[in-house]
Amino acid sequence: MKVVGQAIPHESAREHVTGRALYTDDLWPRYPQTLHAWPVQAPHAHARVLRLEPAPAYRVPGVVRVLTAQDVPGLNDSGIKGDEPLFPAEVMYHGQAVAWVLAETEEAARLGAAQVVVEYEPLPAILTIQEAIAQGSFQGATLQARRGDLEQGFSASARVLSGALHLGGQEHFYLETQASLALLDETGHILVHSSTQHPSETQEVVAQVLGLPRNQITVQCIRMGGGFGGKEVQANPYAAVAALGAYLTRRPVRVRLPRLQDITLTGKRHPFYARWKVGCSEEGRLLALQIELFSDGGWSLDLSEAVLARAVCHIDNAYFIPHLEATGRVCKTHKTSQTAFRGFGGPQGMVFIEEVLTQVAQTLGLPPEVVRERNFYGLSDDPQTRTTHYGQEIKDVERIRLIWNELKSSAELERRRQEVALFNAQNPHRKRGLAITPVKFGISFNFTTYNQAGALVLVYQDGSVQVNHGGTEMGQGLYTKIQQIAAEALGVPLEAVRLMPTRTDKVPNTSATAASTGADLNGAAVKDACEKIKARLAGVAAQRFGVNPADVVFEGGQIWSIWKPEERLAFAEVVRAAYAQRVQLFADGFYRTPGLHWDKTRMQGKPFHYFAYGAAVSEVEVDGFTGQYALRRVDILHDVGDSLSPLVDLGQVEGGFIQGLGWLTLEDLRWDAEGRLATRSASTYKLPSFSELPPVFNVRLLPKATETGVVYGSKAVGEPPLMLAISVREALRDAVAAFGAGGYVELASPATPEAVYWAIERVRQGALVSGD
Ligand code: MTE
Ligand code: MOS
Repeated sequence: MKVVGQAIPHESAREHVTGRALYTDDLWPRYPQTLHAWPVQAPHAHARVLRLEPAPAYRVPGVVRVLTAQDVPGLNDSGIKGDEPLFPAEVMYHGQAVAWVLAETEEAARLGAAQVVVEYEPLPAILTIQEAIAQGSFQGATLQARRGDLEQGFSASARVLSGALHLGGQEHFYLETQASLALLDETGHILVHSSTQHPSETQEVVAQVLGLPRNQITVQCIRMGGGFGGKEVQANPYAAVAALGAYLTRRPVRVRLPRLQDITLTGKRHPFYARWKVGCSEEGRLLALQIELFSDGGWSLDLSEAVLARAVCHIDNAYFIPHLEATGRVCKTHKTSQTAFRGFGGPQGMVFIEEVLTQVAQTLGLPPEVVRERNFYGLSDDPQTRTTHYGQEIKDVERIRLIWNELKSSAELERRRQEVALFNAQNPHRKRGLAITPVKFGISFNFTTYNQAGALVLVYQDGSVQVNHGGTEMGQGLYTKIQQIAAEALGVPLEAVRLMPTRTDKVPNTSATAASTGADLNGAAVKDACEKIKARLAGVAAQRFGVNPADVVFEGGQIWSIWKPEERLAFAEVVRAAYAQRVQLFADGFYRTPGLHWDKTRMQGKPFHYFAYGAAVSEVEVDGFTGQYALRRVDILHDVGDSLSPLVDLGQVEGGFIQGLGWLTLEDLRWDAEGRLATRSASTYKLPSFSELPPVFNVRLLPKATETGVVYGSKAVGEPPLMLAISVREALRDAVAAFGAGGYVELASPATPEAVYWAIERVRQGALVSGD
């Protein structure tokens, strides 16, 4: 292929690094009449609003309008499940917005918001998963997936162990916080610029709040400065506030959350708690696993059920567990409404099974990688061993072992095991640890309907091309890939293709750019549209050459026939000829993922089109006095099929890994006893930065990995690499184990230096006890 598969920079790389790239909040200075919005945030985690008095705000110079529930012409709800009042009568989390003030300047809006009088009746709040379980505070359905017969599995087990683990949440910390600008367009209709991963749903919610049909609302997303799932549904309330303000005042309204508002108002990755019972053989083969998952959904349901479903579907990771029962519940707490975050519950499910495997390995005194290998899918010809607990056959099951073995040798795992053992024998106060973990991640939205996409491709008479599609750009490189796909499919140079900002008036009813499916779905739809146009142009060219249309070649902006390659026409020339002959020069494209089916009550079916695979080896060094550690080396082998855009994909693998490392080792969300988020800025919420990059970081894409049935043989890449970071957690535990005398090392998550320190203390105590 000529354009697809080329290692080109991100289409906006220059703009990103020079600061010229425009984001939603860069637009308002173009509109001199713009009003600025500021929320009135409640100082309680749970309370009834007894009285709300906007009048005093109007005494602040510059305040134009206070938005309250009475102002909503449509439905006072900005959610997708009907449980998220935009202007609530009952405060459900600390900092929730109960009203919004619009003013001539941001400062006036802020001062105005401080003047709004609100009287609250504080109510008892539920702040942790443990409290929610104790009080039976749940929301949404109970999910359960099962296979085999637990009783049989446990009774056949040589060992039965039990355990529990709490996993912390994670703040998205996208560089660009939530932002919207709403205005009345030239026709007097509502136009909303929004930093949203899901323009169609933002349109739906704005229409719902304004009580207007959707064709009255246009939503556009030029690009996002990161979404990571945090703008999959949670951009909607801010778009709704801006749109409501514009609708009422007839002036442009800007909502842009400063970091403090963003971090206190918006949802995060779900914290999870799991407790399990596992049965295994003396060789460490899993026979039965019964596991209960509890996620902290926060105050509203949001995407929590879907996130939990993905956790339940990834409780197996790469392992065959003959008798399995995984049950999940979403807790309802008085916290921000937790939402999509890269991996969407998959990471939580996978950390739990990796925890269980390490527990088994350390309890039996076996190397963890040996126990992992013994449990892989596809170790026998029995079709059961190649089928997941939700009934999906793993077609390319060999790939798990292919990647694993390939990485083990390229990362020199065996040799380095000995090196690490030697180092540990010589150093009483510093220990090294090494771990390899695999990733198997299902690609497609669990909700089958979402697996569709549309495109609209326009060719102008000079041969230049505009491409519209439903996907959004958040830095992940989707536009770069789509540009490559369109150029490839039309046989034109990359420069001939312009990607248009994503708008709901170009392609309707689109899905969120999420579940890593952006390029799979939108890329295939764009290819479909381009191929329609190319087929028409082939007819025109074939006539000119006097050949069969099938013998016409399109490449690099030139068109020729295989019979006379030296006689070439410019793409634009054929386009003009087509126009003269009244041949249509634009086309729609559509794609829906074939073969999916899902019974969500039984949790059985084929929810995924295919699986993405990878593996990582991490090595750490831990200080026994402080728990401080450093990541010394990371080796990754990841499967992206035939890469559409290798530089973009490498960036996704590296970035995903580092983001996962942040979640599992650094990022520690703390809420105080009042339900106030205590870690509310970069000074108290520790994010990964250059200093966390391993000095040796070998990232490779699996070669010759063509995935049939996906656009140009590629595979999705956005989320799966995040879970490669589980190897860092396991390497830390391996190092901690070296301070003790064996046995299961319990390690809290995130494994901050503090958590590592306490883990070391525990293994030292254990060593003392067993040495007595
Ligand atoms: N990469 C960057 N730079 N910024 C992001 O916000 N989001 C991730 C991933 N990679 C994200 C990112 C998430 S959560 C998803 S689902 C995918 O990108 C979405 O894009 P895709 O489907 O085009 O891969
Ligand atoms: Mo990604 S969590 O599916 O937006």
